[in-house]
Amino acid sequence: MTGYQEKQGILHVENVPLPKIAQMAGTPCYVYSASSIRSQFSALKAALEKALPENRAPLLCYACKANSNIAILRLLQTLGSGLEIVSEGELFRGLEAGFRGEHIISTSFGKNPQEIQACLEAEILQFNIEAWIELEQVNQFAAMAGKTADVLFRLNPDISGGGHSKISTGRKEHKFGNSEAKIIEMYRRAAGMRHVRPVGISVHIGSQVTTVESFRPAYEALANLVKKLRSEKLPVERLDIGGGFPIAYEKKNALLDLDAFAQWVADIILPLNVDIQLEPGRYLVGNAGILLTETLYVKETDDRKFLVLDAAMNDLIRPALYEANHGIRPVVTHADRPAQKYDVVGPICESGDIFASQREMTEMRKGDLIAIESAGAYGFSMASNYNSRPFPAEVLVDGDHVAVIRKRQSLQDLIRGETIPEWLR
Ligand SMILES: Cc1ncc(COP(=O)(O)O)c(C=O)c1O
Repeated sequence: MTGYQEKQGILHVENVPLPKIAQMAGTPCYVYSASSIRSQFSALKAALEKALPENRAPLLCYACKANSNIAILRLLQTLGSGLEIVSEGELFRGLEAGFRGEHIISTSFGKNPQEIQACLEAEILQFNIEAWIELEQVNQFAAMAGKTADVLFRLNPDISGGGHSKISTGRKEHKFGNSEAKIIEMYRRAAGMRHVRPVGISVHIGSQVTTVESFRPAYEALANLVKKLRSEKLPVERLDIGGGFPIAYEKKNALLDLDAFAQWVADIILPLNVDIQLEPGRYLVGNAGILLTETLYVKETDDRKFLVLDAAMNDLIRPALYEANHGIRPVVTHADRPAQKYDVVGPICESGDIFASQREMTEMRKGDLIAIESAGAYGFSMASNYNSRPFPAEVLVDGDHVAVIRKRQSLQDLIRGETIPEWLR
């Protein structure tokens, strides 16, 4: 994980020791390294720029479902990123963070009328369409607003991608995208509508796509479809080639060869003479974040030791939902302590509230701080209040700068908006 290193036995994020952050923000809390996000953004951009001509640089639209804190969005906006959104809430966050509509694309599934209207009002760059009704509604609301909206259609290439069944999106049985035949039909129909302008196609086969060869057939399917559409004189000027770029959660994880990936984009997409867009999420922020947590105690049963943390599955659902393996390391190294095997768990009343099973680490004691690694993507953004646990704080570190970018929820925050009806008072 770039941005994190041990200095004199203490884990630091950039120049700041993590115990200092625990003192300042409490635990559990999410901690993010700004320089790590910058370097991931530059690495992806540089690989693409190396393979593509200067005037054909793709628009990188950060998929903010990965981490939608407005400070993180602002950071990416200052780097020149665009934004991919999937809800009215994400649009709101993006605008608050300073993104202009012309750099925002909506890829939401099941667009609702209010969201469509908000996107039209913000004059976003495009709607990626999932279904007929979405197309009709965008046309209808654009007509009411006296506007014309650019639309792309999401292809379902029937290709398996994604590191887990729950984050694979490109197979026929998944709800996402449409067949080639259906897209051609939608495209024809859109071409006859007055308030939408069909401009292209999109594809996103899944997340954490470690089988890197999966991208190639998906892009080839896009290229085939472009040719078919053009043969009917239907204009294709933009291709959104999705996200899904993996990060290493474990050392053994295969990683995408960015240069090879960029070369495929150059070989397959570039000759189509279209504007290219990408939607990276996890890749930009995943390894920039940790979940900082404190050991509540160690519980020993007849056959195992449970390391009980003050963070739980409501703070980080990935192990429970995706069977994800996150690195778990002590913040302070105690070379004098023996190794132990722990089931690392949180305080929630679910057996599924487990971060790791039989994980070997140095002996931990009450009060010891622990970093759960690679938690910058789909960490806080998937957190819940289950068991009435307040959302943790979020902290951004940039060199020597440290800021709480979201304060911990209070108990009052937990019941905000709830009322006891009059007849029960
Ligand atoms: C349409 C779309 N684009 C981009 C992404 C971002 O994926 P990743 O974070 O794996 O890059 C997702 C993730 O769900 C998505 O659904």
